[in-house]
Amino acid sequence: MGHRAAIVGAGHTRFGALAEGPRALLRSAVDGAFASVDRGVDRARVTEAFLATLGFGGWQIGNAAALLCEEAGLPGLPTTRVENACASGGFALRAGVRAVESGANSLVLVAGLEKMTDQPQARRRYWLGVSGDTEWERQAGLTFAGVYGLIAAAYLSEHEVGPEALAEVARKNHENGALNPNAHFQKRIARDDVLRAPRVAAPLGLYDCCPVSDGAAAVLLAPADVARSFTDTPVFIDAVGAGSDYLAVQERPRLTQFAATRWAAEEAFRHARVDRSAISFLEVHDCFTIAELLALEDLGFADEGGAGPLTLSGATARTGRLPVNPDGGLKAKGHPIGATGVSQAYEVFQQLRGAAGPRQVPHAERALTHNVGGAGATAAVTIYSVG
Ligand code: COA
Repeated sequence: MGHRAAIVGAGHTRFGALAEGPRALLRSAVDGAFASVDRGVDRARVTEAFLATLGFGGWQIGNAAALLCEEAGLPGLPTTRVENACASGGFALRAGVRAVESGANSLVLVAGLEKMTDQPQARRRYWLGVSGDTEWERQAGLTFAGVYGLIAAAYLSEHEVGPEALAEVARKNHENGALNPNAHFQKRIARDDVLRAPRVAAPLGLYDCCPVSDGAAAVLLAPADVARSFTDTPVFIDAVGAGSDYLAVQERPRLTQFAATRWAAEEAFRHARVDRSAISFLEVHDCFTIAELLALEDLGFADEGGAGPLTLSGATARTGRLPVNPDGGLKAKGHPIGATGVSQAYEVFQQLRGAAGPRQVPHAERALTHNVGGAGATAAVTIYSVG
């Protein structure tokens, strides 16, 4: 690829139930991204923009990307909305990277946004449902918690793994979230809290689920050869991989593997030309605790059925051998749908520059992000490095 892309700035709002509306969230994340550029930047240098959003609640069904340019103070810029459900952010990042790699752009803005908590309960269920299979699953009343509950039940019965492995994912991610000032939940929980919480879709309980959150994130991408004019420590994007799968889970041969993740990872590692052992930490899509175990296996960091024992061994803790979700993950940081994939890139930007404060992963040099749409219908995997 001719022009390698690098992140030169990143901004993030708090995630949670917030008073701000979508425009204010977007403005705050974008302002943060511009303000974070070490040597400053003239906004007029941006040549293209991408906005990731599902448009939860129907606040702006069409043409939402124009609002990104309005709020960024960049009217007139070519801009595109990217919608792949919960993977919108990962795919918007990929579009931004390709826009830089093409050689056609000198600075690209990628933002992700969702405003969710202003919707009443019934509307939340409706808007979460729009990204599942609407012909069969939704008609049967199956929510995402329901689909992941079925996947979790199948996984626990296929492997010698008990519910405490799922509980450990939630405990660890809450512990990390407690160190992240942007996280929706900044409180520690014990494994027993997870195991004793009310069931949402057995075997998954309240603490096995990500919350419904508001929030936004943004990154600025520049070609590698000019990145150092913005900062001494750009974060390079070594590869992006992406894949998709049957939308309806019933069409797939296996419940407990996400082929889209496997294809995306295979592409990303092929292009990055690094081994998995070179990755310092992972940001994976833990919308439900079972999803973190599947991610570890589908990304090739654990054998089939091995993610549970790996998690229980402490290896995936922030100070472990392979830290996973040092920002708290979707479980504790929150999951404002369109913002999540961009937020993962924000975390990598902080970590690889040694700027993550109390949640800093020691010796972080290379990272991988993994962003999934719905129950595995789409997936994007990105590999980053610094130096
Ligand atoms: N984890 C931990 N605590 C949670 C939580 C979660 N996921 N969701 C809500 N809570 C807490 C709230 O903070 C609140 O605590 P408080 O009483 O101390 O203030 C309490 O639980 C009740 O909150 P409420 O919003 O009424 O919960 P709910 O029952 O309406 O929703 C879920 C709980 C799990 C159903 C909801 O968070 C959910 O749907 N999550 C999944 C979202 C999703 O599917 N995203 C797409 C993924 S593919």
